Amino acid sequence: MASVKNATDGAPNAQGPVAVDLDIDNITEYVINGFNKNADVRMKFIFERLITHIHDFARETRLTTDEWRTGLDWLQACGQICTKDRKELITVSDIFGLSTLVDEIDHPKPPGATEGSILGPFHSLDAEEKTNGDHISSDADGEPLFVYCTVKDTQGNPISGARVHVWEADSHGEYDIEKADRTRPDGRGILRSNEQGEFYFNAITPTPYPILCDGPVGKFFEIAGRHEYRPAHIHFMFECEGFDKLITALYLRDSKYRDSDAVFGVKRSLVVDIHELDAETAAKYNLSGVNKLLRYDFVLASDSEANALRERHSAAALKALGRDASLPSHVPPTL
Ligand SMILES: [Fe+2]
Repeated sequence: MASVKNATDGAPNAQGPVAVDLDIDNITEYVINGFNKNADVRMKFIFERLITHIHDFARETRLTTDEWRTGLDWLQACGQICTKDRKELITVSDIFGLSTLVDEIDHPKPPGATEGSILGPFHSLDAEEKTNGDHISSDADGEPLFVYCTVKDTQGNPISGARVHVWEADSHGEYDIEKADRTRPDGRGILRSNEQGEFYFNAITPTPYPILCDGPVGKFFEIAGRHEYRPAHIHFMFECEGFDKLITALYLRDSKYRDSDAVFGVKRSLVVDIHELDAETAAKYNLSGVNKLLRYDFVLASDSEANALRERHSAAALKALGRDASLPSHVPPTL
């Protein structure tokens, strides 16, 4: 095994440790030490752990050159199939469970707060602003569904003015951004909660759908022998000053695949029932031709509640790693 040498031992132009005679046992230390001493502390820490785990992965699996090349080809194909509306790498993160894991880490919830779920690859920034009661879907084949929700803080106070993104697939399980002939946003919208913390809209009853498997993700499913379906759901994302951003979804209790979501997004607290729409609600919201109702009360964690949990969990994780618990944990990436 080679040992780490000082720059003065090696080539005349070398800066830092001399990177020669690297082998299975010492290359990880060399690569990590190659970071500039003045590099961003958080970035250095992230790359140190990433390199450590990638190297350990290769050592533990005794990765062959052919396997390494196959993996790189797969990653390259993932990148090549991406477009503005085809977000293969988000799906890769989803099917590996990384999206759920990161959301759990970065958006901890105090008791009573609504749990998060994955963003998925079908959120679009061009959704139209909607008024309470508007339709978000033009799909004539879909079963009309009235969605009535409230949003409150953990003390039970209504939150007014929350910006709520909602999006769903059509009755054939397709999102608007998957369609080549898309001319405008559909199956999505952005609402504002009113003074009572209410927001409501007309949608269609969601149906299960397969995630896109005509590319590299599909190859993974072939190998894994897993099905590629998501249970019926509607996505929600809440943005409100003073509150931690909440990305979540509601899943239908009776939906096929509810307990085997291909991308690991379902939480029991996010499973809902569809009810028959009562006459009183239909009259109050001036609804006609709608027979189904979905109700849900969302609870947002405040920034201070989420930050306190984040810092506590981060300190515990660093301590378990034997690291200085004062290491900054949430510096925005600056790559
Ligand atoms: Fe979805």
